[in-house]
Amino acid sequence: MSDIKRIALLTSGGDAPGMNAAVRAVVRSCVYYNAQAVGVYEGYNGLVNGNFRDLSVRSVNNILGNGGTFLRSSRCPEFRTVEGRKQAYDNMRQNKIDGLIAIGGDGTFAGAHVFGKEFGIQIAGIPATIDNDIAGTDYSIGYDSASNIVVSCIDKIRDTALSHNRLFFVEVMGRDTGFIALRSGIASGAVCIMMPERPVSVEELVAILRKGFRNKKSSSIVVVAEGNANGGAIEIAKAVQEKYTDYETKVTILGHLQRGGDPSCFDRVIASEMGVAAVEGLLSGNTGFMTSYRCGKIVQEPIETSYTQKKKINEHLVKIAQILSI
Ligand code: F6P
Repeated sequence: MSDIKRIALLTSGGDAPGMNAAVRAVVRSCVYYNAQAVGVYEGYNGLVNGNFRDLSVRSVNNILGNGGTFLRSSRCPEFRTVEGRKQAYDNMRQNKIDGLIAIGGDGTFAGAHVFGKEFGIQIAGIPATIDNDIAGTDYSIGYDSASNIVVSCIDKIRDTALSHNRLFFVEVMGRDTGFIALRSGIASGAVCIMMPERPVSVEELVAILRKGFRNKKSSSIVVVAEGNANGGAIEIAKAVQEKYTDYETKVTILGHLQRGGDPSCFDRVIASEMGVAAVEGLLSGNTGFMTSYRCGKIVQEPIETSYTQKKKINEHLVKIAQILSI
């Protein structure tokens, strides 16, 4: 057991639906276990500048279903420097804080891990990014909500695609990975999913589209991950249009729409489970772990897995997408 009494928590990097649910779970489980949760506002900026506020059980009323993060977020270059982290440590000491929970992605975790080791602070990470690109966990908070938004948008796009015999290129987020593209592409019946992990040439794509046209497909949706190797949706659409004219071509870039709005039920539940698990882990004396979703269970995973390994795309899903897109 640990004698931790005050646990700081922050959200950092891109916001993700479900971050608020995780914050609520951390605060309420601190109350449950007689510890004090201290909110750090604006991510690592708040740690460096001492922007702290004690959070009570009622501070997190009615945030479970809200998108974004009420603690706010930032990207903080100062925290990458030893001086910045020393300043953060001094602020934590002054506020008698002895543990830190960082909610975010691999960059957030790399910072927390270095900080914890440098100053002997117990740290834990809760994975939250719509990209789902964090190695060591099957799911990160926000991924399910973002994928659902993409699917719902593509369903709408298909209505017009069908009505006009059109070919749509839909660009989705994911930074340099294709996790959002793959999942939402399968769920929305995309004819092709273009992602950095599985490059598809324009010639291959045109062959797929021709085959679909011959098979009497009346609309086609191509999902393009923003990090796709041979360009985003605009570039791919242009290149395809030069070689293939059976369909009228349109492009939709979903952008930040994918990060907003209510978290899905799945995200709310894993965020709640992970928030409680992070507090319990710190209180039992553990450090340097992230809460991880593995085969339906929340477990502890060394936090460095998140930034020293690269998460692999699910080959089984790649195959499913190919089989079903004929
Ligand atoms: O990491 C989440 C994410 O939404 C990526 O999918 C995207 O590439 C990036 O953040 C966008 O970042 P920003 O909101 O800073 O433009």
